[in-house]
Amino acid sequence: MITYDEAHKILLSCGQEHILNFFSELSEAEQSSLLTQIEKIDFSLLDALDGSNEALKRGRIEPIEAVTIPDIEKNSDEYHKLGIEAVRAGKVAAVLLAGGQGTRLGFDKPKGMFNVGITHELYIFECVINNLMKTVNEAGAWIQLCVMTSEKNHDDTVSFLREKNYFGYDPDHIHFFMQDMAPSVDYSGKIYMESRSRISSSPNGNGGWFSSLVRSGLLDTLKSSGAEWLNVFGVDNVLAKTADPLFIGAVLKSGAQSGSKVVAKTAPEERVGVMCLEDGRPSIVEYYEMTDDMITLRTADGTLAYNYGVILNYLFSISKLEEINKQRMPIHTVEKKIPYMDENGAFISPSEPNGHKFEALIIDMINRHDSCIPYEVMRDKEFAPIKNAEGVDSVVSARELLEKNGVTL
Ligand code: UTP
Repeated sequence: MITYDEAHKILLSCGQEHILNFFSELSEAEQSSLLTQIEKIDFSLLDALDGSNEALKRGRIEPIEAVTIPDIEKNSDEYHKLGIEAVRAGKVAAVLLAGGQGTRLGFDKPKGMFNVGITHELYIFECVINNLMKTVNEAGAWIQLCVMTSEKNHDDTVSFLREKNYFGYDPDHIHFFMQDMAPSVDYSGKIYMESRSRISSSPNGNGGWFSSLVRSGLLDTLKSSGAEWLNVFGVDNVLAKTADPLFIGAVLKSGAQSGSKVVAKTAPEERVGVMCLEDGRPSIVEYYEMTDDMITLRTADGTLAYNYGVILNYLFSISKLEEINKQRMPIHTVEKKIPYMDENGAFISPSEPNGHKFEALIIDMINRHDSCIPYEVMRDKEFAPIKNAEGVDSVVSARELLEKNGVTL
């Protein structure tokens, strides 16, 4: 652990000395805790506030060609064989990103603990595990499943899954790792305090998953069990097909460094990030970055040129990820409502955004690859995200889709 003087020096160099304002009034345990927090913080994240984040500047955007549903149907036998062989050989591990705070859902436990069932209990974690079990059963082989949590939801997640007997998954094949945290700042860039000894922080975005996996030591475990590919997916999508042999086979067959499951847009204006080429490399362009011409542009066969939205289901090769991990990820600043302690020591829960959080995003990893195959799946069969309680991408819409796919609620 660093000393008070070392901490003070670090803070002075980035204008954050106020963090130590109450240090002399803290108990010994609180002092140690605060020094450890300071030691762990990546203060270079604060540079993202000055607007000169080169990595966020975009290059020349062009359409990218996808592997479409008809292409997949034509080659399904070959893809399936390749994919299932890779799973049986233990070459593919799954990584579930469940470190988010799920604020839009307004549920005070980890999102995976949400019960989507109606007549019986059916938790989001259960849906995700059931989906993965389909490949496990088909391959007759367990798949290593790594669950990323954050400091905020780790204990709840681990004890819930243990209590539910991992919904039938083999505990020897489930691993947990925690993502890193990032500090929250006010509009002038000063780090908020949650209490006199606690720096306000939040999970550092879903783009931090690989560096956290490496730091946890789990990557070495996966590699020594023979894993070469990671299928990364989010906790939101209760229809996510994970370790899908067809998807794995298509990526292996293509020789690409990565693949991304995508769905065709429902309308040109749909607010979704779509796959594209950026300066000749695979990338994702957000809907708000697209001009009207790009939104309505069509290919010779009438399909939208920017048609394929990402659904947070990627296949990455470990060796390429290790190379990418040597580079720094771009940092995004996001305006949020941040609870904090004011200068009089009172705890404030703001009703309006009052500062920024810092996040790295998994979509930024795509552009670090030389190749990434957009792999089209049927929206109604594989995409039922739960972001909100009601309306679009909600518990209500996901329940409808689950029932449509034969899941009894
Ligand atoms: P979202 O972008 O929906 O963020 O995450 P969120 O924090 O879960 O939800 P809101 O925005 O507060 O409502 C997409 C996926 O990335 C994971 C989430 O758990 C989800 O699977 N994620 C997000 C992380 O694992 N860590 C993060 O820091 C952020």
